[in-house]
Amino acid sequence: MNNTADKLVKAALEARAASYCPYSHFAVGAALLCADGTIYSGANIEVSSHSPTVCAERVAFFRAVHEGKRKFTAIAVVGGGEGQEIDFLCPPCGVCRQVMSEFCNEDFEIILFDGKKSEIHTLGELLPLRFGL
Ligand code: THU
Repeated sequence: MNNTADKLVKAALEARAASYCPYSHFAVGAALLCADGTIYSGANIEVSSHSPTVCAERVAFFRAVHEGKRKFTAIAVVGGGEGQEIDFLCPPCGVCRQVMSEFCNEDFEIILFDGKKSEIHTLGELLPLRFGL
């Protein structure tokens, strides 16, 4: 594991504290590294009617894109029971993978953390044969 990954996991763990998840009680944090070195974080935000709920990864991406960022290097994602320590991996959902695909190439790194160690995957690995226009 490299220093950048450690730094992103730490930022994702901090971001997770802002999760609003009164329905699932599953809190997720994400930290997105832009090509210029800036980091945008996000946490999941739930809504009682469910479908407007937004994942942590998309909060981070949309915050960054709204600030004019378009090039991204990596994202760290951590998730687990609200108020509990992380003890398993939280791979991004399919919708978030498609959002990543909108802005990132297949080398984009997705860093997952199980509470003890991190592992790095690529978008090409997690979303093969992706749709795009
Ligand atoms: N969630 C994320 O934030 N990211 C994912 O990639 C998977 C799921 C959130 C959405 C919802 O608030 C909760 O986790 C349970 O599905």
